[in-house]
Amino acid sequence: MQSAKNIVILTGAGVSADSGVATFRDAGGIWAQYSIEEVATPDAFSRDPEKVHGFYNMRRAGLAGVEPNAAHFALARLERELAARGGRLTLVSQNVDDLHRRAGSENILAMHGALAEALCQFCRHVVPWTEDLSAETQCPDCGSARGMRPNVVWFGEVPHHLDAIAMALAEADMFVAIGTSGAVYPAAGLVAEARSLHIPCVELNLEPSDNARLFTDRRYGKASEVVPEWVEDVLKG
Ligand code: APR
Ligand code: ZN
Repeated sequence: MQSAKNIVILTGAGVSADSGVATFRDAGGIWAQYSIEEVATPDAFSRDPEKVHGFYNMRRAGLAGVEPNAAHFALARLERELAARGGRLTLVSQNVDDLHRRAGSENILAMHGALAEALCQFCRHVVPWTEDLSAETQCPDCGSARGMRPNVVWFGEVPHHLDAIAMALAEADMFVAIGTSGAVYPAAGLVAEARSLHIPCVELNLEPSDNARLFTDRRYGKASEVVPEWVEDVLKG
């Protein structure tokens, strides 16, 4: 096991699956029940804001009572231990739940935003948000109604933190992808970027992802089991 000091880890819905959070593309997943075009694009929001609010209100409510699992806690531990050794863990998450933060991770780049925040389309302020949103919700900062939306990145929008992600990857000794199908870019392109830097690329997933062949190492199984074991091996490395 290579010992690494600067690691970039990309997580997807699979890291939260063992906490009971639905994934998107597994059988019966979110996109088997809802249409992306109807609930997860800017056009959907301008066409039928209440439908989009209903979708995210349901997902926000679904996170109530959900707890981080052993995978989230293992990644928070790895961040602390790497920092103690003068290294750095950059956690690039596609997830909009707050389970990494609640497990103690700090250096998180939430590239698809966060369900626990709302964005005003008029004043662009982002505010913590735990209630239901509706088209009538007034912005607490500028007072406008009809402008509040969940602070999540929709299909067709530019993900957050792309520069910070590129900078972290450029300094990384290792890239790891956990619980992601490799179906959505630019996140799914990070492993190719990491391969071009000639660093080890590890996939930790329930099953081979769409770009499994690009990884140099891989372990398959439930994240709440595989991730703590892998962290233990990295720290012993
Ligand atoms: N442990 C580990 N991996 C798991 C588990 C588990 N318990 N359960 C499922 N997986 C794996 C699946 O095998 C799959 O490869 O997690 C992956 C989940 O893939 P998706 O459902 O496509 O989720 P994700 O990759 O995060 O989707 C990326 O697509 O819809 C957009 O914005 C959304 O951020 C999301 C993005
Ligand atoms: Zn506002």
